[in-house]
Amino acid sequence: MPVDIILGLQWGDEGKGKIVDVLSKQYKIIARFQGGPNAGHTLEFDGIKHVLHTIPSGIFHNSIINLIGNGVVIDPVILEKEIKSLYKYNINFSKSLFISRKAHLILPTHRILDAASEASKGNKKIGSTLKGIGPTYMDKTGRNGIRVGDIEKSNWINKYNQLKEKHLKLLNFYEVKIEFDLKKFEKEFFQAIDLINEMNIIDSEVFLHNEIKSNVNILAEGAQGSLLDIDFGSYPYVTSSNTTAAGACTGLGIPPNQLNNIIGIFKAYSTRVGSGPFPTELSNSIGKKIAKIGNEFGSTTGRSRRCGWLDLVSLKYAVRINGITKLIMMKSDVLSGIEKIKICVGYEMDGKKIDYFPYSIEKHSVIPIYKELKGWFEDLTKIENENEFPVNFKNYISYIEKELNIPISIISVGPNRKQTIFRNL
Ligand code: GDP
Ligand code: IMO
Ligand code: MG
Repeated sequence: MPVDIILGLQWGDEGKGKIVDVLSKQYKIIARFQGGPNAGHTLEFDGIKHVLHTIPSGIFHNSIINLIGNGVVIDPVILEKEIKSLYKYNINFSKSLFISRKAHLILPTHRILDAASEASKGNKKIGSTLKGIGPTYMDKTGRNGIRVGDIEKSNWINKYNQLKEKHLKLLNFYEVKIEFDLKKFEKEFFQAIDLINEMNIIDSEVFLHNEIKSNVNILAEGAQGSLLDIDFGSYPYVTSSNTTAAGACTGLGIPPNQLNNIIGIFKAYSTRVGSGPFPTELSNSIGKKIAKIGNEFGSTTGRSRRCGWLDLVSLKYAVRINGITKLIMMKSDVLSGIEKIKICVGYEMDGKKIDYFPYSIEKHSVIPIYKELKGWFEDLTKIENENEFPVNFKNYISYIEKELNIPISIISVGPNRKQTIFRNL
């Protein structure tokens, strides 16, 4: 079966972009299946660092097709910027970037609605990236959205104007008023639409079905992480799409029986950007140290990411929901130099120990229970073979593998493509 999925098992930013880039050579098609420009996927090689928001992370490899699937929401202005920032790399976009006709468009007024909704929530803010994700998916499920296929039709502007007018009325419901220059936004928007109209717009599910029939290898690239999933994440502090494996089926039109490996990526610790509960969050000097060494700042918004210990309760849950078959551990290098490392192995809820992810993981509901392991002081960033791993790091890996009952096939020890260790399992 030719379709694999790579997805994040935590609250996003696990390092999906780096790993998709590293594994790209094994596939002919890399396809994003959900989310939109709230994502920021970082790739580092040959002295350059790239952050992709909408374009799949296989774009730097010749002869790979990068597909923006039907489940993705596209901000034309951001996509145009991304495409233009890649011009200098001589990428042949007509051969390497395809866009699904069924993907929904983020309009300028979706972004304004997102800002108004967040501003009106006061201290209950989701901490959205304010890219218009929530309002666009609301219009999709409300059956009001505008899709890429619409812009190929001459009268789509009527549809646009109708939806815009509706959004402007909706804005009046919010007490908090948002300042915006819609004329300027629309000018940028329509310019970008012209560029998108020149791209390869396709019936992506038909294309994928034919490729699957020809036994072509396909990699579905997830955005965000399982704990931000609209159904299974820490609701309401989540994003507005299914970030879990099932999202790849609906977001690309791939039948579940065509799935092969479902590869879960996690950081050796936990991070979260934006609001919402985070049981293993560290508000002390260790948390600050991890944030500093791990350079934990959002790739899309630049906001500081909150840091904490690895949480096996939520990881086990994510492994189950996704049906993970392979694991990849990222940012292991960041934990060097911490004397005692903790791993959350259970939650205390109502005075009892539980080992499952409950309805609420708010502070008043659960208290994390930790196991302490000895840390290591060696620098991991130059290691090229797992035999060179310090013994305490080996113990850390074995403990996680034993608990999750799945081997960790790749260990990342730095942001560069080359700092990737494939294990002999
Ligand atoms: P994504 O959204 O899952 O693609 O992850 P992001 O790109 O938002 O965040 C991951 C960050 O960690 C990026 O800045 C990467 O360059 C960096 N990174 C990835 N893998 C490693 C690693 O093994 N070690 C270190 N130190 N940094 C890494
Ligand atoms: P990648 O693909 C980390 C978070 C936001 C906020 C919540 C809702 O780079 O891993 P939204 O903009 O979707 O309305 O925000 O989800 N969030 C992410 N956090 N990585 C991401 O993407 C994220 N995309 C959204 O911070 O808490
Ligand atoms: Mg990211």
